[in-house]
Amino acid sequence: MNILKDSFGRTFPYIRMSITDVCNFKCGYCLPNGYQVDKSDNRKFLHLDEIRRLAKCFSELGVNKIRITGGEPTVRKDFFEIIKVLKFESGIKKVAITTNGYHLDIKAKLLVDSGLNGINISIDSLNRNTFKNITGHDRLPEILKGIENLQDLEFNNIKINAVLLKNINSSSKDFDEWSNFIQNNKIDFRYIELMQTGENLDYFKKYHVSSKVFKNYLSENKWIYQTFGKDAGPSLNYIKPEYKGKFGIIAPYSKDFCKTCNRLRITSRGDLRLCLFGNTGISVRHLLQKDSQLNELKDLILKQMQFKKQSHYLELGETGSTKNLSKTGG
Ligand code: 5AD
Ligand code: SF4
Repeated sequence: MNILKDSFGRTFPYIRMSITDVCNFKCGYCLPNGYQVDKSDNRKFLHLDEIRRLAKCFSELGVNKIRITGGEPTVRKDFFEIIKVLKFESGIKKVAITTNGYHLDIKAKLLVDSGLNGINISIDSLNRNTFKNITGHDRLPEILKGIENLQDLEFNNIKINAVLLKNINSSSKDFDEWSNFIQNNKIDFRYIELMQTGENLDYFKKYHVSSKVFKNYLSENKWIYQTFGKDAGPSLNYIKPEYKGKFGIIAPYSKDFCKTCNRLRITSRGDLRLCLFGNTGISVRHLLQKDSQLNELKDLILKQMQFKKQSHYLELGETGSTKNLSKTGG
């Protein structure tokens, strides 16, 4: 079988697929003024049949996991249909989502019933006011209730991500709060280091802080570094025997971050993006119109793999064409 492989020997069993750019939150580092319609791009978001064809193609190219992202993916009216099509009509084995947790309390049961395999929820702070200030929404309680509901339904693959922000959520008090939280919750909590995008330079300068502050906290508090598993992804994980959950760090600026890259991206309008930050990417949408285009689509995607670069060169201030992460799903 032909599988996705680049010229540096990396394989790609994992796709992140954005299904919409629309988001109902206003995170300071991403969409500080909320979602604005992009007048320069009037293409519609991928529709259900296009998503099914694309996922089937990826499954035949050795992909076993798709993560659905946004924007906020749950704002799409056909969101649950998309999950079902991916789970049951595409050959993809694992389907996960990344969500801001909006209405999670109400949606928890539907999510579990849809057959979803994993959920990543973004929660930048356990402090209600801080959460509100970052996202523009006072919705922390409904999200935490949603997590409880998922757990009551015995849904176990829950991860929480927070963007690490200087003077906002990066004190040892913040770290202690999360530590208490994961002591009795089987949830992996990861800090993501703030990334510079085309639109957030001032924010980045003001709030970027190295993930070393969290790393230092972890070693001072005797968290144990867990070595990489085979498809570990970009997170460095830390455990403690008496804790149900784990801590993790996603540090895109670290030296070897790209070495373990195992993912490609699809934008909500059907562009294949080889890297979150690269300029490299092409539209594959013209080959998503009929089932009979499957082989042609496979060839096109396989050919693109030679253009995947070794690193994102973010440390050189390269942000590629990424204006903000609502376009490529983080
Ligand atoms: N830097 C780091 N993480 C970001 N996210 C969005 N924008 C950025 C950025 N500039 C995160 C969100 C969410 C995930 C989809 O990406 O907080 O956890
Ligand atoms: Fe929305 Fe996610 Fe961007 Fe926040 S980070 S504004 S939740 S897309």
